[in-house]
Amino acid sequence: MSRTLLVTSALPYANGSIHLGHLVEHIQTDIWVRFQRMQGHTVHYFCADDTHGTPVMLAAKARGLTPEAMVELAHTEHEADLRGFSVDHDLYYSTHSPETEAMASDLYLKLKDQGLITLRAIEQFYDPVEAMFLPDRFIKGTCPRCRAPDQYGDNCEVCGASYSPTDLIDARSALSGSAPEKRLSEHHFLRLAACEDFLRQWTRSGTIPDEAANKLDEWFKTGLTDWDISRDAPYFGFEIPGAPGKFFYVWLDAPIGYIGTFRKLAKERGLDFDAGWRQDSTWELYHFIGKDILYFHALFWPALLHQTGMRTPTRLFVHGFLTVNGQKMSKSRGSFITARHYLDLLDPEYLRYYLAAKLNGSMEDIDLNLDDFCARVNSDLVGKYANLASRSAGFITKRFHGQLSDHLQEDQQALVETFRHAAPAIARAFDARDTGRAIREIMQLADLANQYVDQHKPWELARSEERHAELQQVCTTILELFRLLTLYLKPILPTITAKAEAFLAVDALHWNHVSHSLTGHSIQPYSHLVTRVDPEYVHRLVGMPGN
Ligand code: MSP
Ligand code: ZN
Repeated sequence: MSRTLLVTSALPYANGSIHLGHLVEHIQTDIWVRFQRMQGHTVHYFCADDTHGTPVMLAAKARGLTPEAMVELAHTEHEADLRGFSVDHDLYYSTHSPETEAMASDLYLKLKDQGLITLRAIEQFYDPVEAMFLPDRFIKGTCPRCRAPDQYGDNCEVCGASYSPTDLIDARSALSGSAPEKRLSEHHFLRLAACEDFLRQWTRSGTIPDEAANKLDEWFKTGLTDWDISRDAPYFGFEIPGAPGKFFYVWLDAPIGYIGTFRKLAKERGLDFDAGWRQDSTWELYHFIGKDILYFHALFWPALLHQTGMRTPTRLFVHGFLTVNGQKMSKSRGSFITARHYLDLLDPEYLRYYLAAKLNGSMEDIDLNLDDFCARVNSDLVGKYANLASRSAGFITKRFHGQLSDHLQEDQQALVETFRHAAPAIARAFDARDTGRAIREIMQLADLANQYVDQHKPWELARSEERHAELQQVCTTILELFRLLTLYLKPILPTITAKAEAFLAVDALHWNHVSHSLTGHSIQPYSHLVTRVDPEYVHRLVGMPGN
């Protein structure tokens, strides 16, 4: 059965660098996408920068740039950083695009036609010096509970109190330092409560993990409130049709950016846009997101799609947060690791492997422990995987002109079959995004392969002339096992396994190549696959505040 899958990672904000937290998401998405492609499915994997909002506008201003120029720069950097980790989007676009603007306007007007948009004036802080309304996080003041000074927005970092910014004592604008005024302004709201029946049913229909659905039940219990989808000028975003001076709130156009990005991709590749997004689409749609943005993706997003006659997501894949050595990544502690800083020090495949080993398809947080990272990479990738090839390929090249045996002994064949029989279980683990389990299964096989090497010692066989044929068969067996491990690791390690495919002189491995065989085949000389990780470099990832 031929399947077409649309797959996204959440759109990173344009006002910061790609960091290891983003990579937890993009790497797991990329592994899943590569796995599905190896299965022969058609996958369109796309993402974009999330460009709009007050923080981007102010960051641009602080750097003396227009917001347009700043999002351009961010886009170039983000795309290069993600490519650096072999994240293989078909398109990495931007929400500041004509496609997303047209789509946002169109969907907004459809909601309005159905009476789902209401207008209401609300009172907000306004900075008279900057002449703009202030988002909560741009208001500073003294905590009304513990009196700690300089607390931002709606919660106190000292005592943990949460409050409304209007409760702050001696509130100040974080931009100009002036005392903010309260001003009325008319806002556009989406009447989410009108979608409650649909949302209750949608969130319990297997579209989101149970642990997430329970969270949503709490929100249903407190009642679905109207969602404020507009912001006043000056704002970097799209102006709302028929409402001069009012802009779409960034979280309205961000998910619509998924559709705008696919529209662009469809145009570039001649794909059928409507086949993917119409209500009765037979294509599948998967969003990989962090648990912090569940609210937007499980309520607003499906409501908006459903009400405008579009397809809803097949499933949301929700992951937890990355910690470094057990702690939240923090700029001040120097444990905020950017993608670029990592790439300057280490091989990206190490991180792909380590994160894959830790991820299990649940919403649990995962920890990057630097000592564990070194141990894992060295023992698995170098010790168990690459060594199989480096310890056997040389004999084939030097003694047999690269030629492998044309048949194996019964016990050798049986061992190869054991490796082949593991394929469905490994595939199930990848499909369930339980890459941790996939790796455990694969490394159990690698252990068997290494036991075989230790029992049959090719280096000893190589010393006696009369055991020539045996040496060839033993090395052929080892390389066949290595080929199967390469196939299984391919979604996780695209670069290393591409080198392995080249020296094995095989076509790009697909999942159904499990049944292929290397007997009678010639290989190329072994070329180096992966270097031991140097703990010195790993520890340089952290400890430089502000990088
Ligand atoms: N721009 C929004 C998403 C819009 S999607 C229509 C956003 N951007 S973000 O840059 O803050 O985060 C992008 C993704 O990275 C989110 O899924 C978020 O959960 C994830 N992560 C950000 N920091 C993370 C960690 N420390 N660990 C794991 N994932 C994290 O939210
Ligand atoms: Zn306080």
